[in-house]
Amino acid sequence: MTSQHHNNAAADSAKHDDDDSAYTARVLPRDATFAAPASLSLLEAALLDGVSLPSSCRNGTCRACISKLHAGSVRYRIEWPGLSPDEKDDGYILPCVACAGSDVVFEPMDGR
Ligand code: FES
Repeated sequence: MTSQHHNNAAADSAKHDDDDSAYTARVLPRDATFAAPASLSLLEAALLDGVSLPSSCRNGTCRACISKLHAGSVRYRIEWPGLSPDEKDDGYILPCVACAGSDVVFEPMDGR
């Protein structure tokens, strides 16, 4: 059977993750909130909800989206996002490849 659902890249990329939990994400300092399903990256979820975030590569390498996680937890879609162990320990995340593992609060480091 062939799939005819090619009009939504986010839905396609979500298929490999069967976690359908839905969380809420809050972006500081704007205090914007958006729905953050565990099956989407925070960046994808933000864009779907009309919240803009800094991004470029969207695959965890350029670090344009680097943010500080103030509350909550994330899971990564890729083995090694472009963060050092120290940065991870310090709570930095890459929203383009990080999926919410709980309600989250984070702050993009580019000040937007
Ligand atoms: S957009 Fe490049 S690392 Fe997130």
